[in-house]
Amino acid sequence: MKVTVVGAGAVGATCADNIARAELVQELVLLDIKEGFAEGKALDIMQTSSFRGCDTKVIGVTNDYSKTAGSSVCVITSGIPRKPGMTREELIGTNAKIVEGVAKSLLEYSPETIIIVISNPMDTMTYLTLKATGLPKNRVIGMGGMLDSSRFKTYLQMALNCSQGDLHATVVGGHGDTTMIPLTRLASLNGAPVSDFLSADELKKVAADTMVGGATLTKLLGTSAWYAPGACGAALVEAIIRDERKVLPCCVYLEGEYGQNDICIGVPVVVGKNGWEKVIDLKLNEEEMALFNKSAEAVRNMNSVLDTIVA
Ligand code: LAC
Repeated sequence: MKVTVVGAGAVGATCADNIARAELVQELVLLDIKEGFAEGKALDIMQTSSFRGCDTKVIGVTNDYSKTAGSSVCVITSGIPRKPGMTREELIGTNAKIVEGVAKSLLEYSPETIIIVISNPMDTMTYLTLKATGLPKNRVIGMGGMLDSSRFKTYLQMALNCSQGDLHATVVGGHGDTTMIPLTRLASLNGAPVSDFLSADELKKVAADTMVGGATLTKLLGTSAWYAPGACGAALVEAIIRDERKVLPCCVYLEGEYGQNDICIGVPVVVGKNGWEKVIDLKLNEEEMALFNKSAEAVRNMNSVLDTIVA
């Protein structure tokens, strides 16, 4: 088994590090356009193997896609990250051309691959990848909802003083500060609704903090986050490689589910060896559905910009 991660920046390298630690595959390729950069990160990761006891071979390459041949899963993290004050959407002009080129190059050498998209604006980059490659819809998955849900669980944990492992909480909709929808009504502490323990105001604050979770980190760090984005990317790879059939909030192409068509947006899906297999219907109430429709409208507006960039 072989996995490729494109982009050896902070998110890509962290994703690769997590994949290597979990010993998910025999061979992991890390590719970057910057001369020697991926080679350096790959060697650095390999030099952690002796005390971690993992033997994944990590290979760094500079822009040579032939080395990625035969990958079961490819993760795209390429593109520029956001700077403080920037939205994910402002990255579209630069990142669309990069992501389209990367996706096509990957497919040339790994025609059977499943592609995971992390680059921002993630929902639109996922849609672009699907359209540009012509891959079956189940083999293109955007990673955003897992990250947003991790942030949701972190803020819930801090408010509840509980274990994150006991929390079930999902964020659906677009991966944008104003488009994501933390589903507080459905969040539970091992089955008990979190509203049993937190007031409406406390829950509102958790949701608001979740929505700007990425921006908060960008402000603190001067660039966007990498530990959780990289770890979530690796967890998604793991669900595919180990055929876990986990229900994970991911950005996928909808054909009627949640009342939407011709769009990639975050919903819970079953993930296994074939990519995403089916959408789980959370039976949103009227208010949540209205938010979902609004979120889809924003993502669709962003998708329409693609026509002017990628020709
Ligand atoms: C974030 C970026 C990676 O949310 O989208 O941190």
